Amino acid sequence: MVTLTNKRVLLGVSGGIAAYKSADLVRRLRDAGAEVRVVMTRSATEFITPLTMQAVSGHPVYQELLDTDAEAGMGHIDLARWSDLVLVAPASANFIARLTQGRADDLLSAVCLATAAPVAVAPAMNQQMWSNAATQENLATLRKRGVHVFGPGEGSQACGDIGLGRMFEPTQLVELATELFKSRGLDGLTVVVTAGPTWEAIDPVRAITNKSSGKMGYAVAVAAIEAGANVILIAGPTALPDPERVTAIHVTSAQEMYDTVHAHIGAADIFIGVAAVADYRVAAPQSNKIKKNAERMTLELIRNPDILESVAKLARRPFTVGFAAETDDVVANARAKLEKKNLDLIAANRVGLPGSGFESDENQLTLIERERVIELPAGNKRTLARALIHHIAEAIHAGHRIKNPRQAHR
Ligand code: C5P
Repeated sequence: MVTLTNKRVLLGVSGGIAAYKSADLVRRLRDAGAEVRVVMTRSATEFITPLTMQAVSGHPVYQELLDTDAEAGMGHIDLARWSDLVLVAPASANFIARLTQGRADDLLSAVCLATAAPVAVAPAMNQQMWSNAATQENLATLRKRGVHVFGPGEGSQACGDIGLGRMFEPTQLVELATELFKSRGLDGLTVVVTAGPTWEAIDPVRAITNKSSGKMGYAVAVAAIEAGANVILIAGPTALPDPERVTAIHVTSAQEMYDTVHAHIGAADIFIGVAAVADYRVAAPQSNKIKKNAERMTLELIRNPDILESVAKLARRPFTVGFAAETDDVVANARAKLEKKNLDLIAANRVGLPGSGFESDENQLTLIERERVIELPAGNKRTLARALIHHIAEAIHAGHRIKNPRQAHR
């Protein structure tokens, strides 16, 4: 089971014989779904080469604090911000002492000081150095500050001694790292989200579209990523940048969105249709720009397929969530759509009011299931998206209205 999906782990390697295990640790972290970058202290490079760590992590290894090239690429602040977890393994007695002092005179200690992410250390040292009061007091201080201490284990040591001080095995460290993220509700699941408007061409320069900004759909995609999911975002034309770590696919028309959704839906555990899909398209879009000769003109429109309904009809369907933008009778209209389209959940929002709906950063959502209605407190779209994802995760874990047989044996 993949457990660190989408997590960015910065592995710090300090100088100790256990550094030879750090290469295997990188591999196992990546097997668990994490993206790994490596920072090595100077003495670590005496035990294992940066080339080895680069090969196993798939990224250049960071070593120097004041290296202009490296700082121009990803400096210590960028690395600190990039990380979801900083794991120092092995953490030597010297490194632990430096971390306790809050030093920032090499790259690894500077990153530890600059990060808001959790920091974990996996001590590895001679048993006498481990039991020394200085080391124990340092560790007590670090624990008090919220640093996680993974290990050490007991056994025979490189120096011939037997006792406490062996670095935990890579598999143990991966397990402990995973524990830190356990509360994430959509770990390892795949979510397909549609977002934004669609653009139904009239001719090469004109189209029928709508006022959807894509903000709500993009916020839902980001919240699903934060919850540990793999996210495929299928977006109509918006002005928004692709969210990080999301696989974004850009489409134009409803038909293109339909085709793209169905090309990916086989992998989806959850489908969330946030897009404002045009109900009609132009029957015969012109290949040349239409000239304004006639006093009147008529556009013939034909119905677009309903993407959401088509997903809910699949034999092996994902947990299917719709959105309903309503101007009146919000709950009743949304409930009718829930039933007609046979959805698991519908999120209704009132449009046409200031401070809510299409272009705004704020929104108001009511979640409607068959048996209950949940009013989410009004808030910005990021907060509401997180609440929606939290609710979906709970429903999935409770086995509530899951129609997809794949869910049953997860
Ligand atoms: O019926 P209505 O268009 O109000 O339903 C809105 C919901 O249906 C949204 O989740 C929207 O993404 C989805 N939808 C769709 N394909 C359409 C029309 C709407 O997926 N052609």
